[in-house]
Amino acid sequence: MKSDQLLFKNRRPGETTFLKGYLETGGYEGLKKAFTMDPAQVREIVKASRLRGRGGAGFPTGMKWSFFPADKPGEKYLVCNADEMEPGTYKDRELLLADPHQLVEGMIISAYALQAPTGYIFIRYAYERCARNLERAIIEAREAGFLGKNIRGSGFSCELFVHRSAGRYICGEETALLNALEGRRANPRSKPPFPAVRGLFDKPTTVNNVETLASIQHIITGGAAWFKDLAATVEGAGTKLYGLSGHLEKTECHELPIGVPLRTLVEEFGGGVWKGRRFKACLPGGASTPYLTAEHLDVSMDFEPLEKVGSRLGTAGVTVFDDTTCMVEATLNLNRFFARESCGWCTPCRDGLPFVNWILEKIERGDGVMEDIDMLRDQLRNITGTTFCALAQGAVGPIESLLRLFEEEVVDHIKRGRCPFNP
Ligand SMILES: Cc1cc2nc3c(=O)[nH]c(=O)nc-3n(C[C@H](O)[C@H](O)[C@H](O)COP(=O)(O)O)c2cc1C
Repeated sequence: MKSDQLLFKNRRPGETTFLKGYLETGGYEGLKKAFTMDPAQVREIVKASRLRGRGGAGFPTGMKWSFFPADKPGEKYLVCNADEMEPGTYKDRELLLADPHQLVEGMIISAYALQAPTGYIFIRYAYERCARNLERAIIEAREAGFLGKNIRGSGFSCELFVHRSAGRYICGEETALLNALEGRRANPRSKPPFPAVRGLFDKPTTVNNVETLASIQHIITGGAAWFKDLAATVEGAGTKLYGLSGHLEKTECHELPIGVPLRTLVEEFGGGVWKGRRFKACLPGGASTPYLTAEHLDVSMDFEPLEKVGSRLGTAGVTVFDDTTCMVEATLNLNRFFARESCGWCTPCRDGLPFVNWILEKIERGDGVMEDIDMLRDQLRNITGTTFCALAQGAVGPIESLLRLFEEEVVDHIKRGRCPFNP
């Protein structure tokens, strides 16, 4: 399967495209076009494109922007979420290693559309090369007159700043991110008020993912209808970065139409399950999405189709597990991450996730009893919908699907009094 390359147009192994190369391939044409329109027109095009946020939750970008008081005077902020600490997710890194100007241009257009002249890029501490690429791109854009005061005579001024995260998964949750940007402890904020009303420094703020913002200039250049038609599904819009990992022959990040079948990703782009083994399961969209099994291989990798089969598109970081994998151990491994990364603000997350670890560890080492399964289900109920943010909710995804899809395997651990995969 071939796909239009928008976001990865300038991607070459080991190289970064800076201003010269970016301009040669149509860079900043989207910005020039946006400046021929009203900010409201730009927002309308983004809405019509049906772009949905690429950070995990899939909220429609145009709708999110429609809540933003763009036309009201006063301080307003645009924040790019480049935290990307979800295990199995590395698409934003690939984009920023290849082509940082894409994010810079996307942010300037978005800042113009939202009339929010100050933008922050909140970036994962481990992504130092990406941060430096962005800093260089920002300097180049300013020198070329695409950033700064009265950009290209448009009357619009814009400044962008790179802010390195202190390095916790919770910092990627948008309200915890805002606290972190303000120099506070990164706990999530209670919503409402939503960031569009009271965000960074208590001012209206929009938070969007790297891939979301990098898609904006393509939508403006190509038009909403063209962007929508790039999808492989009727309900979808645009292309998507799919990061493959786990037990595949080839683990790479690919730009493909949103809605590409999971099977195409696994068999064609991933080269099939490694070592000639069989496909057992996958996380379709990062560590916080429910598992899928071989019976789901023909699902379209788009928001609605994945929800229909009990999972989520999330970040589209696809992690594959072969048939030698113990799903109890895999789930325990994921939950250890979430329990460690809980910020501790909400009791069900702070205490519930370590308790889930304790139960899964017990089952995995062969000391489990049947009541542990009910206890796990109980914990899932206690955690679901009882926290300020979605960290614990995400952690529940793999556990819930372990019990739904692999209950027999859990029971087998308990009956044998040992792990059938790691004797
Ligand atoms: C614990 C947690 C971590 C998150 N980490 C990220 C992240 O690293 N990058 C990201 O874009 N969104 C992350 N999100 C989602 C953000 O809260 C937010 O929905 C997103 O940045 C909005 O951008 P979008 O609408 O463009 O998708 C995270 C959410 C949670 C609950």
